[in-house]
Amino acid sequence: METINNTQSRLNLRIFTVKDIEAFVKNRRILIYGAGRKGIGFCRSLERNGFKVYGFIDKSPLIAEKGIMQKPCFSAADYFSNIHKKENDYIFTAAVTHRSSKELNNICHEAGLENEHDFIDANIISPLYPSVDISGVCNLKCIACPRGDTLHSLHKGGFMSAAVYQKILNKLLQEIPFLSSIELFIWGEPLLNPHLPEILEINNKFGVDSSLSTNLNYSKNLEASVKAGFSNMLIACSGYGKENYEVTHTGADWNVFYNNLLLLSEYIKKYNSPLVPVIFYFVTKKNIAEYKDIYELCKKLKFRLFISPYLLFADYILDYAEGNEICPAAKKASDLMLVHPNKWLELMRKEQNKRCFNYRAFPNIGWDGAVYACCNISRGGGGGLHRTIWTYLWMNLLSAEIIRLYARIVLNILYTGMNTVYSRNMRLS
Ligand SMILES: C[S@@+](CC[C@H](N)C(=O)[O-])C[C@H]1O[C@@H](n2cnc3c(N)ncnc32)[C@H](O)[C@@H]1O
Ligand code: SF4
Repeated sequence: METINNTQSRLNLRIFTVKDIEAFVKNRRILIYGAGRKGIGFCRSLERNGFKVYGFIDKSPLIAEKGIMQKPCFSAADYFSNIHKKENDYIFTAAVTHRSSKELNNICHEAGLENEHDFIDANIISPLYPSVDISGVCNLKCIACPRGDTLHSLHKGGFMSAAVYQKILNKLLQEIPFLSSIELFIWGEPLLNPHLPEILEINNKFGVDSSLSTNLNYSKNLEASVKAGFSNMLIACSGYGKENYEVTHTGADWNVFYNNLLLLSEYIKKYNSPLVPVIFYFVTKKNIAEYKDIYELCKKLKFRLFISPYLLFADYILDYAEGNEICPAAKKASDLMLVHPNKWLELMRKEQNKRCFNYRAFPNIGWDGAVYACCNISRGGGGGLHRTIWTYLWMNLLSAEIIRLYARIVLNILYTGMNTVYSRNMRLS
């Protein structure tokens, strides 16, 4: 067991072993509080390491009603109002963002549970969120994304094979025992990769959860992927109907997208999949009135809905902050945003002393096996020295050393404040 303690960057990552977890749990019934992406992935990592997870606790009625991973799911309200009966449980709180984790930990604390003795944050045991960009290509050229950059477009790549993916997964599992989930995208469209169903099956075989983010304009691999199984799917959407959606999802077709949403819902039923997809709605000045239609559609399909006012990708906000020219396509996206870049920069300044959310997103592996410094900023990712350094570190050093170096160097080159603001969900009423 090794503790990596970098006080300068306020990082405290430790590689936990099976014995460490046994010492916390002490033969009690295990429950996971949070049945989202982190909870499901963490459940699989516990089971891979020989622990039996009894079930989940979650605030979402959709999930509590359906159960999850063929396990019971208690509603959080019911469970915590009867907490005195549950002293034989050990709870792992599981959420991706700092804010949600804090919320879950506070609820446990307020219910009289003692940190570490009765519950622990799964992010302490399993802090890293690797991503593997299995597709180095995309079928769209969204104006807000570096793929739509009309001045210096991202390099076009290829597809990762299942054999290369298996090698990468072996290395990840060897170095991160409680690895819980892998995002199968960074700068490409994962559904285009013909090997996606096989890659999902590999993850399932090794007890690792898969997470996808998609434009859902391509359905050839959709049925086989739902059949193979994965628990998290973000579907990016920026309007309801051709008029607005096809401007910000440049090159997309609203009718294809809409039909694929219906197909996805059918496949979920057909394969009895536990998947509850999330539509990620990028709200702009033009599409704000269409929010109610997307809301109704989500209700009908039993999908979840998240909202973000930050259409523009991080690269362009950095360009803007540094006084550089942003490409005409991105300028068009910027003009559509409800939040003016100046307001965004003001928010970022307030957050700049907070820990960057993305320090945990490591490693970020490209379609060809090379490693990027950051999953949110494409510059330095597409090629050049950054990529060579990170690839070298990932291939040659022990994970503890990689993480320590990563903490020291990347946190200095990342713009803190950017990702903490970016990762916030928005509420519309
Ligand atoms: C670079 S894309 C790659 C995956 C996939 N192609 C997609 O669009 O979801 C990854 C991230 O971009 C976000 N995103 C997708 N479409 C967007 C758009 N038109 N504007 C801004 N962000 C978008 C998604 O929510 C996702 O987190
Ligand atoms: S946001 Fe996704 S779908 Fe749109 S261009 Fe970028 S990678 Fe492609």
